[in-house]
Amino acid sequence: MKKHLLSINDLSASDALEILNTASELAKISDGPMKKLPTLRGRTVVNLFFEDSTRTRISFESAAKRLSADVINFSAKGSSVSKGESLKDTAQTLQAMGADAVVIRHGASGAAQRLADSGWISASVINAGDGTHEHPTQALLDAYTIRSKFPEFRESFAGLKVGIVGDILHSRVARSNVLLLTKLGAHVTLIAPPTLIPVGVTDWKVDVSYDLDSVINKVDVLMVLRVQSERMADSFFPSEREYSRGYGLDLARLNSLKSKAIVMHPGPMNRGLEISAESADSHQSVVLAQVSNGVLVRMAVLYQLLGGAALAGEVSA
Ligand code: CP
Repeated sequence: MKKHLLSINDLSASDALEILNTASELAKISDGPMKKLPTLRGRTVVNLFFEDSTRTRISFESAAKRLSADVINFSAKGSSVSKGESLKDTAQTLQAMGADAVVIRHGASGAAQRLADSGWISASVINAGDGTHEHPTQALLDAYTIRSKFPEFRESFAGLKVGIVGDILHSRVARSNVLLLTKLGAHVTLIAPPTLIPVGVTDWKVDVSYDLDSVINKVDVLMVLRVQSERMADSFFPSEREYSRGYGLDLARLNSLKSKAIVMHPGPMNRGLEISAESADSHQSVVLAQVSNGVLVRMAVLYQLLGGAALAGEVSA
């Protein structure tokens, strides 16, 4: 694996499977008596968050602590960033504190790449979401969750049908998932109103549909995306009511899914807009499993990037 994880393009299919397999090993260990591994003792992981986060920040913190790393949480709100301190000075300050890995979330697409390429720091950089560009660990935890629900697709997603519905245009989750799911062999259909489909989607290895009802009963996985109102300067659909009617996962649509199909959402959810409460809380929803799996997958990423000791050794330690 490369030094940084900035994009799913940094991973081959076998790199990605190795991360998922490492997460599976870590799950087995976590189920045993030793909840905390000494693997990253003496290493420091910095969570550098310029944008709000609940799941990603907490799960990276939990993952690092479960591997015995020291964790520094940095949130731009309440820091000297609000006094005008630059990304360079902030990063170099953290480097001076001995960071081995920097997990960065930033509102600007390309911020993680900029940090990695800058030469300002020597730490590994992990992209925890940059603007509308990518969120690679979200895609990895989604793939892990899919694999845990469909063991027949353990080595390859060939034959798996995934629908991704909603605000594709503003979604870094969709971009990373399209890259990873297609790399692993899945067939992906993007479903959204034309205004929320990115220009250039014809270059992606996906089908596009504007009609959720014609796709919903064919997929094994329906990934529902958040409507990202905070990134919408213009009006992308006539009203929330109209959006829900066309693209929301309500009870009637939930009932038209295959019986074994799963419903995913990266969170945070707008209940009543892109997903109804019944759908979010249904037995087909794996939303909370996605959150739990996020810790395991982020442990695996930190473990691989920071070169932890062999897991077999950890088990017998
Ligand atoms: N899925 C996700 O990135 O959630 P947070 O914004 O809460 O981290």
